[in-house]
Amino acid sequence: MAEAGLRVCRSEELLERGLGVQWELRYCGMEERAFALRIDGRVVAYLNRCAHVPTELDWQPNEFLDSERKYILCAVHGAVYSPATGACVMGRCGRAGLIPVAVAEVDGEVHWYPSAHIQPLPEAPSSAPELAPAP
Ligand code: FES
Repeated sequence: MAEAGLRVCRSEELLERGLGVQWELRYCGMEERAFALRIDGRVVAYLNRCAHVPTELDWQPNEFLDSERKYILCAVHGAVYSPATGACVMGRCGRAGLIPVAVAEVDGEVHWYPSAHIQPLPEAPSSAPELAPAP
């Protein structure tokens, strides 16, 4: 991958088909959240954005999977996605599916990788230097 990875979490924080871990980023210039899950041993990540209406998917904080831990389920109208690929399986998600975010595990940590449309948030400006009192 061309750009350096950015830390998401420790690998052990993502349990097999457990809760997701979210972080903020910019997608086409807009602030969005992404989430990572561990599926069949592999970490996958997507924008937290339904393909039907661009609202967040999780029905409880960081809870993306259905009760059987088989599919990603949209909390709003119940669209169903494959967690392994992000493809729409059923419902109003259409052909587009979820938007993937590149991730990899490196030395026990999960990293994500920016792309042309998915970028980190700009750095928060550091606090302004204190001005010296006027003489
Ligand atoms: S907003 Fe997700 S299915 Fe409608």
